[in-house]
Amino acid sequence: MGARTLHIKTFGCQMNVYDSARMADALAPLGFVSTECAEAADVVILNTCHIREKAAEKVYSELGRLRHLKARKKGRGGRMILGVAGCVAQAEGEEILRRAPYVDLVVGPQVYHRLPRMIVELERTQAPAIDVEFPPESKFDHLPGVGAAPGVGAFLTVQEGCDKFCSFCVVPYTRGAEYSRPVGDVRDEARRLVDAGARELTLLGQNVNNYHGAAPRTFSRSRPGAAEWGLGRLIAELASIEGLKRIRYTTSYPADMNAELIAAHRDVPKLMPFVHLPVQSGSDKVLAAMNRRHDAAGYRRIADAMRAARPDIAFSSDFIVGFPGESEADFEDTLCLVRDIGFLQAYSFKYSPRPGTPAAAMTDQVPEPVKIDRLSRLQALLGDQQMEFNRRCAGTTLGVLFDRRGRRPGQILGRSPYSQPVHAEAGEDRIGTVVEVRIVRAYANSLRGRLEPGESAGVIASPGAESRAEARP
Ligand code: SAH
Ligand code: F3S
Repeated sequence: MGARTLHIKTFGCQMNVYDSARMADALAPLGFVSTECAEAADVVILNTCHIREKAAEKVYSELGRLRHLKARKKGRGGRMILGVAGCVAQAEGEEILRRAPYVDLVVGPQVYHRLPRMIVELERTQAPAIDVEFPPESKFDHLPGVGAAPGVGAFLTVQEGCDKFCSFCVVPYTRGAEYSRPVGDVRDEARRLVDAGARELTLLGQNVNNYHGAAPRTFSRSRPGAAEWGLGRLIAELASIEGLKRIRYTTSYPADMNAELIAAHRDVPKLMPFVHLPVQSGSDKVLAAMNRRHDAAGYRRIADAMRAARPDIAFSSDFIVGFPGESEADFEDTLCLVRDIGFLQAYSFKYSPRPGTPAAAMTDQVPEPVKIDRLSRLQALLGDQQMEFNRRCAGTTLGVLFDRRGRRPGQILGRSPYSQPVHAEAGEDRIGTVVEVRIVRAYANSLRGRLEPGESAGVIASPGAESRAEARP
């Protein structure tokens, strides 16, 4: 029997990107090879997002499309196993099989280690399989290690789940309780990723700055007080991995930002000066109704403390407009906070009522046209700030970690310390290295740079080289 093929389509957050890679690793021992082409695949899995209504609806429309592919494949005598993973699987469970009876497999985020067994069983019985348990064992202890080669930048989940219960959010219901992986496991996985070619690690968690993983055994024995490490200490430890050039983390909860992590921004050069710190709103009234454990002044204090530790630190954030009860004055408080902090980048959303969350039952829902108006005003301000930040970079020199080919021949693409995409003329052999780049032009979402004179440009492919090579007899 030839290799069987697997196609995973990932929606939503970076944790899903990480999970998709782990699912592929888990299925590799069964002979599954990943393919970009859903039509040809023997197993198609949608790794889904439930955070907003639109995100969840996208899954059903995608399933409708796949239904036809599956039927066509059956018509040709083949078989396609169609699976739904991720947060929609967790939240909807059996409902998916009712709404889309052609789905074969529903698997929640905490049981991906059971996926191989489920597929084997499914192939034997042909009966739909569903597992949305929150099992006592951790999937991390049962999933295989890193398999496929990571890119220059790789994700590493260190913490999962959330106990905060913001009144608008489904994550505590779909991802379960907070769990931090032991330091030793994270360190081993980080080393494997770097050995396999990763140069930048982004540590992932729903509340990553509340990380408190079990200390490595040697440490907890000698210092009983340090049975658990926070994220700052974990980052300092990972920074000692040779070959690793950059560390980032996401997503942070403002009230969990702690002194040790702030100090890491001062003391650990590999920790990049760019932090995603969702604030949601600048109104204390709205923040309280959201059940956030910080107010606007608290957020400003945290940003100040981080800037004191690392003066060039840049922030990105998440915002929700039109939360139930949000008045025009509340919204203006948000604009005011944005002006005070100054964000390099941000994601902003209209409030989307999610079934089962407290905010969905609040009576003072904001009308859609008001939400639309506020979102566009907020996005205009955030867009101006982003452009202004990029413009200020022009004329400066930034270290850029190149991670891929650019769109044009002879061009490669990387990221600045502040995570801005930067493109420059240089050879592909510079991919995976940090290069000093003079920024010559700023755009809304990216920068153009030129290598500083002391930097080697590597081997630049001349335009058309590939086609000439192909044309040769
Ligand atoms: N700490 C989490 C945040 C989860 S959701 C993480 O990043 O993993 C990401 C963002 O989606 C939130 O910060 C919030 O701004 C937005 N969001 C969550 N629930 C929402 C809802 N019901 N309506 C609109 N936006 C929402
Ligand atoms: Fe969601 Fe709030 Fe947790 S936004 S992920 S409940 S911190």
